Amino acid sequence: MAVNTPLTSLDVMRDAPVIPVIVLHDVAHAVPLARALLAGGIRMLEVTLRTPQALACMEAIARDVPDAVVGAGTMRSAADVQASAMAGARFGVSPGYTSKVGQACRDAGLPLLPGVATGSEIMMAQEDGLTELKFFPAMQAGGLAMLKAWQGPFGETTFCPTGGITSANAPEFLALSNVACVGGSWIVPNDAIASGDWGRIETLARAASQLAR
Ligand code: 3PG
Repeated sequence: MAVNTPLTSLDVMRDAPVIPVIVLHDVAHAVPLARALLAGGIRMLEVTLRTPQALACMEAIARDVPDAVVGAGTMRSAADVQASAMAGARFGVSPGYTSKVGQACRDAGLPLLPGVATGSEIMMAQEDGLTELKFFPAMQAGGLAMLKAWQGPFGETTFCPTGGITSANAPEFLALSNVACVGGSWIVPNDAIASGDWGRIETLARAASQLAR
């Protein structure tokens, strides 16, 4: 996949086994963090809209780390989608799903991984044409057993479990036929970002990028 072509949700999910869930409080951390993740083999980067600096961080990564693909996480409204697209986000991730967020992503040309935790939510996303979904919060909402239960009725759906995933349990999730990747914050620890320990983050990313699927 060329990094500058329009992406599909499957492109985002299949690029690496792990999508890092990133929280940035300082714009100065954005570029070195993205470079460390890229050096470790992870280029799909979810920057969450949880801090006032998030949009500026996306802009910095999109501008200065062209081999990375920055996405926006924690998108909860059409306004979030529009602001993220303006900041250079190439994909979106949301903790839940609404048709308004789905429509805003279609309008902005952003593939969306919407969060679902129930069969009804999967069906609502499917009604809007979405079959690549984030299972959130994965561990709290049923974990492996829930994903296995969904293989029957929702066999065409592919998931990115996120929430409570670690280096220890990621392999079990990645072994499921309806899981394309997992999301997680374990490869971008807050203390490593705060102290600028980019070498540690590169090491964590490299281990994550080599997980079997
Ligand atoms: C989140 O909402 O922060 C993500 O789901 C990441 O969860 P995690 O910190 O458990 O990986």
